[in-house]
Amino acid sequence: MSDRFLLACRSEEVDCTPVWFMRQAGRCLPEYRAIRKHHSLLEIVRQPELCTEVTLQPVDRFGVDAAIVFSDITLPFLGLGVQFEIQSGVGPVVESPLREPVDVERLSVFDPHSDVAELFAAIDLIRRASAVPVIGFAGAPFTLAAYLIEGRPSRRFHLVKGFMHQHPGAWRRLMEQLTDATIAYLAAQVEAGAQALQVFDSWIGALSPSDYRASIQPHMERLFGSLPPVPTIHFGTDTAGLLPSLAEAGGDVIGLDWRIDLDRGWEIVGDRGIQGNLDPVVAAGPWEVAERQTRAILAAAGGRRGHVFNLGHGVLPHTPVDNLKRLVELVHEETA
Ligand code: CP3
Repeated sequence: MSDRFLLACRSEEVDCTPVWFMRQAGRCLPEYRAIRKHHSLLEIVRQPELCTEVTLQPVDRFGVDAAIVFSDITLPFLGLGVQFEIQSGVGPVVESPLREPVDVERLSVFDPHSDVAELFAAIDLIRRASAVPVIGFAGAPFTLAAYLIEGRPSRRFHLVKGFMHQHPGAWRRLMEQLTDATIAYLAAQVEAGAQALQVFDSWIGALSPSDYRASIQPHMERLFGSLPPVPTIHFGTDTAGLLPSLAEAGGDVIGLDWRIDLDRGWEIVGDRGIQGNLDPVVAAGPWEVAERQTRAILAAAGGRRGHVFNLGHGVLPHTPVDNLKRLVELVHEETA
C-alpha cells in the first residue's frame, strides 16, 4: 500500500507528490454512470458493496493515492430530522428551510451510528479492499447551514448571512449543534476505518474576514480541536481573503482553490501542508493547458514537503477520463 498521501499530510518525506481529486468518484466515469442509471446517491450510500465499488472505481482508473468515501455532505440531515431531496440538475433541496430562531429548535440530535449505520459498514469494507488510504469527510457547519437556511443551492447566500446577523443567538446554537454533529460524524468515520478527514467548507468564501472570525472561527477551532488524531484537510473555495483565519482555525493541510497562487497561499498559511490547486475547468482540457498549469503548480510547490496535488474544487462531469489519468502520471513523474 502506498502511504505517500498520509505522509504528505503530515509534511513528511515522500517518494513523489500524492494526487487525488475531489469528486473523483462518479460523474466523469462511464462505469459510475452505468450504476447511477439504476441507483440514486442514497441507494449507493446505503449498500456497502455498491458504495465500495463506486469509491474504488477512480483508484483503479486514475491511479490516485487516496480514496474518498462516496457519500454526500447532506447525509447528516437525515439524522437532524431535516427532510430533503436531491433534485437532478439542482442539488440538495430542503423541504422546510430554517428561517426563524424557532426552526433551529426543531432539529434533532444527530446520532451517526443509528442514523447512517450503513455508511460505516461501507467504510469498513472500503478500508479492507483499498490499496490506498481512505479519506472520510463532512461538510463544515457554515456550508451545511447554507443548505438548511437557503433551502437549495445558492450563489449569493443572502439568507444564511442575513440569519447570522439577525439572529445571533439562534445562529450560535445552530453552529454549536452542527459542530457537535460534525465531530460525532467524523469520529465515527475514523472508528470505522477512515485514515484521514477532509472538512468541506465549500461556500465559506461568501463571508467577510471579520464575520468569519466572529461567527465561524470559534466553532471551526472547536471542531478541529475535537477530532481523532488522523491527518485533517481544511478545504474551502474563494478563501484568498480568509486564509489566515481559516488556517488558524485548524487543519494539518489547507485546501486551496485556483483563485490564489499556490506559493502565495502557502506563504500565508505557513508551516503545514497545502492541497491543490488546478482549476477543474483546466483539468477538463485541452490537455496541453492542463499540463502547463500543472507544471506551474509543481514549480510553485518547489519540492517542499506537505504538498498534496488536487484540483481547486470537484472534478467536472465532462472531464475526459484520460486527462485525469495523465495528470496523476505527470505529477508522479515530475516529483519522483
Ligand atoms: O454527481 C455525482 O457524483 C452524483 C452523486 C452526488 C453527489 N452529491 C456526490 C458527492 C449527487 C447527486 C450529489 C448531490 C449534491 N450535493 C449536489 C448536486 C449534485 C452534484 O453533482 O454536485 C450538491 C451541490 C451537493 C452538496 C455537496 N456535496 C457539496 C457542497 C459537497 C462538497 C464538495 C464540493 O463540491 O464542494 C458535496 C460532497 C460530495 N458529493 C461528495 C460526493 C461523492 C464527496 C466529496 C468528494 O468526492 O470529493
